[in-house]
Amino acid sequence: MRVVLGVGGGIAAYKSAELVRALQQRGHRVQVVMTNAAQQFVQPLTFAALTAQKVITGLFSQESPQDTLGSAVEHIAIAQENDLLAVAPATADLLAKFAHGLADDFLSTLYLAFTGPVLVAPAMNTAMWEHPATIANLNLLRERGVSIVEPDAGWLACGTMGAGRLPDPEQIAEAIDSMTAARRDLEGESILITAGPTQEPIDPVRYISNRSSGKMGYALASEAVRRGARVTLISGPVDLPVPRGVDLVRIRTAREMYDAVLAALEPATIIIKSAAVADYYVADVPKQKIKKTATRFSLDLEPTPDILAAVGERKGDRLLIGFAAETENMIAEARRKMVSKKCDMVVANLVNRDGLGFESDQNEVEILTRAGQIVHAGPAGKKEIAARILDQVARLRLALQAVEA
Ligand SMILES: Cc1cc2nc3c(=O)[nH]c(=O)nc-3n(C[C@H](O)[C@H](O)[C@H](O)COP(=O)(O)O)c2cc1C
Repeated sequence: MRVVLGVGGGIAAYKSAELVRALQQRGHRVQVVMTNAAQQFVQPLTFAALTAQKVITGLFSQESPQDTLGSAVEHIAIAQENDLLAVAPATADLLAKFAHGLADDFLSTLYLAFTGPVLVAPAMNTAMWEHPATIANLNLLRERGVSIVEPDAGWLACGTMGAGRLPDPEQIAEAIDSMTAARRDLEGESILITAGPTQEPIDPVRYISNRSSGKMGYALASEAVRRGARVTLISGPVDLPVPRGVDLVRIRTAREMYDAVLAALEPATIIIKSAAVADYYVADVPKQKIKKTATRFSLDLEPTPDILAAVGERKGDRLLIGFAAETENMIAEARRKMVSKKCDMVVANLVNRDGLGFESDQNEVEILTRAGQIVHAGPAGKKEIAARILDQVARLRLALQAVEA
């Protein structure tokens, strides 16, 4: 596995050298990123010698950009090239930056650009560790799915006794191992996921769309890859980084989504339709821009092809998971969709609540199965919600396999 190890500016930075060795002994390839403060404690040369690789020491490093990855945007390349980001020691400052989305150096920028699993091992003076700001920052990170290796208690470098000491590097390596060996319960599955909105042109410069950000579908895609699935992601226009390891198909209109889904259906064993596809489109789009006039103007809209229904017709023994974004009667609508569209599972959410659902990083959903079960998930980050949805998908798959056997 490819691990990026971020080293923060704490006394325990010297222990990160041992962590590099422990990870290498477990077969991981390690790329080290040091903050400016970390370089006050340990020389980059130590890590360069251990990893036989250039150590990344800054966001605007002049000599490095094209060296290793052929990319001038190195934080993005490193984010895409690696499977896990571990930060040890994670200083109070780094925790605050990560929690609040600051991106003023390489490591904090990488953290934002990284779509895979993240582990932090905080180490600091006990008062800093117990400060409400640090506690709140850690809670935020935990909610967003970051794994935390809690510090040990003992004698600290500052001469006091208490919690805040970086755990033994072997213990951190163990935690990294257990994250990567995490459930591969979707191994062998080929999952087709749709995400984002569609755009239906009105004229050459205007379109009808909706507020879907694609975040839920992208979180599902990246979690499914992490759990061993092959993933094809068919995405409407969104502003999100492509999750590592997915085959991405970009589309714009509902018709293009329909064609792309049917073309990719054959190898799929599971289909998750989280895209917010337009229900109507303009059949005769004028070639020229519509001019403004003082009179009323109406659009003649035709229904778009029903992708979920089309997939339902052709699904065979594939699992079909639909999404129901509702503003009222959520459970009833989800049940109706389950039957009418031949879904095996429907993920329902209310989209008219502030801070949840559309455009948000948070979500709260009900996962309904054909057997009549309803599992509640959230409110939580979309990464966490994606994991809970895939738990149910994997469970359903196992149950159906047991019935077949
Ligand atoms: C001698 C010394 C030891 C330090 N040890 C720690 C530490 O263990 N944990 C911590 O969070 N900050 C520690 N700090 C403070 C950080 O170095 C400081 O907050 C810095 O801005 C962190 O930078 P970073 O975000 O690049 O890690 C220490 C500072 C000094 C001068």
